[in-house]
Amino acid sequence: MAIIALNDSDIINLHREILTMGILKNEFEETKIENNGEFLDEAASEIDVPISCGDGNCSSCVCEIISGGEFLSPKTEAEIEFMLEDNERMLCQCKFIGGDDDVVEVDQ
Ligand code: FES
Repeated sequence: MAIIALNDSDIINLHREILTMGILKNEFEETKIENNGEFLDEAASEIDVPISCGDGNCSSCVCEIISGGEFLSPKTEAEIEFMLEDNERMLCQCKFIGGDDDVVEVDQ
């Protein structure tokens, strides 16, 4: 049996290779998003979607999902409480769950 020793940077690089990258875009901007379990508030800011509370309390980040909604995590309790339309999401409450090159297009 072969035993392979990995150091921390090997493990980090291996983890990076496993992560899949998609795209979050609106009419004017786009940015890469990772399927890494993180919410999309930073990515939303990069395409000029305003993030205020970052916690599902203010609705400043609500966007219409034009396409790619299937690549987002299910609605959170906060989104359900705000009674958003079926095609609306709070980007601060969404995680990207898609694969490489999957695109989520939004409009605000
Ligand atoms: S930033 Fe307040 S609900 Fe998303």
